[in-house]
Amino acid sequence: MKINRHDTTQDQSLRPYSAADEYLLKSFLEIEHKPKEIAIYHDRFGYLTCHLQEFHPTIVLTNKSQQKSIEQNLEKNQLTTPTFCNPLSTFDHKIEWALLKVPKSLALLELFLQQITQNSNKEITVVMAFMTRHFSPKMVSIAEKYFEVVEQSRALKKARLVTLTNKKQVAKPAIIDVIKYNNQTYQQYWGVFSAKHIDYATQYFLENLELKPSDHTILDLASGNGVMAKAISLKLPNAKIHLLDDFYLAVESAKLNVQGENVHHHYNNDLSIFEDNTFDLIVTNPPFHFEYEISIHIPIQLFKACFDCLKPTGCLQIVANKHLNYATHLKRIFPIVEVVDQNDKFIIYRCLKRSELFPN
Ligand SMILES: C[S@@+](CC[C@H](N)C(=O)[O-])C[C@H]1O[C@@H](n2cnc3c(N)ncnc32)[C@H](O)[C@@H]1O
Repeated sequence: MKINRHDTTQDQSLRPYSAADEYLLKSFLEIEHKPKEIAIYHDRFGYLTCHLQEFHPTIVLTNKSQQKSIEQNLEKNQLTTPTFCNPLSTFDHKIEWALLKVPKSLALLELFLQQITQNSNKEITVVMAFMTRHFSPKMVSIAEKYFEVVEQSRALKKARLVTLTNKKQVAKPAIIDVIKYNNQTYQQYWGVFSAKHIDYATQYFLENLELKPSDHTILDLASGNGVMAKAISLKLPNAKIHLLDDFYLAVESAKLNVQGENVHHHYNNDLSIFEDNTFDLIVTNPPFHFEYEISIHIPIQLFKACFDCLKPTGCLQIVANKHLNYATHLKRIFPIVEVVDQNDKFIIYRCLKRSELFPN
C-alpha cells in the first residue's frame, strides 16, 4: 500500500503515518472475530482508511485537507471510497469498534468520544493510539469520563494504545464553548483554535485593523470561529464577506457567529474556489501549527494564492508571531510589503498587489 501526504510539504522528513498508526492497525488485524461496524477517527492522510477499506469503515473527517489526502490515497491504491461523515453527524448505525488516533487537541478527543458513545451500543470498544512523547494524563481522565475500563498497552516503537470498554451512561454534554470579547459573544465547538479566549495575535490585529470604504469584497482566510470577519462586518455592514477554513468545526462555529445575506462560509484548505482578482481585502492569522508539526510552507502557499485572488488594488493584511519572519517570503510574492505595527510578540503586515511606482 502506497500512502502519501498530499499536503505539498517539501520536508521529506515528515511522514504520512507514525508508529502509533501502525500499532493501531496491528491491534485491529490481530482481532480474531472482526467487529462489523467500525469507525476511524483522525486518520490524517488515510493510512488506516486504505488498510482497513475492506471492512467498510465509517471515516470521521475533521479537515478538508484530510479528505483530499484520503481520497487521493484511495485512488492511488485503486480502492473505493468508504462512508465519510463529520464529527457532529449522527450515524445511521451503531458502531462496535472505533480506532482513534489521539489528536493534539484534547477537547477534540473528548468531542470524538462523545460522538462515539452517542452512536454505539454498550459493547463498543475504542482503541486510542498516540506516540508516548505526546502522552498526557488528561487523555486518561477524559476517557474515564465515558468508559469504566481504561487500559494502557505496553509501548511499541515509542507508541502506545489505550483500550476503552464498558461504556458509562453519560448525559450528552454541551460541546460548545462560549467566549465574550468586545461586547460580542462567540460560540465555538470543542477543538476550534484558541479554545477559551480570542487569540492574542488576533486581538492585536483587530485593535490595529485598517478598513477602507472601498473594501467591498473581503476574505477572512483561516477564519477559525470567525472573529475577524465579525469585527469587519460590524464596521462595513454592506461588504460581501467570505470566510474559509480547513477545519470542519471551525466553519460550523463561524456559521454560529457570523451570519447575513452578504456572508459566505467555505470549508476548504485552498483558494481554488475563488476566481483571480476577486478580493479588495484579505485578512488572516495564518496557521503554522499542524498537529505536532510546525510549518510555514502551507501559509506561504496560501499567501501566493492570495496574490492571485486579490484585485489589482487589493491588500492582504496578516498578523503573525514575529519569529516566523514572513517578510522574506512575502517580499518574493508582493511588490509592497509594509509593517503596519509590531510589539514584542506579534507583527502585522500589509501587502499590496500593485506598487504605485510600478503599476501593472
Ligand atoms: C491561527 S488560527 C486563526 C483562526 C481565527 N482567524 C482566529 O483568529 O481566531 C488558524 C486557522 O487556520 C485553519 N487552517 C489550517 N490550515 C488551513 C488551510 N490550509 N486553509 C484554511 N485554513 C486553514 C485552522 O483550522 C485554524 O482555524
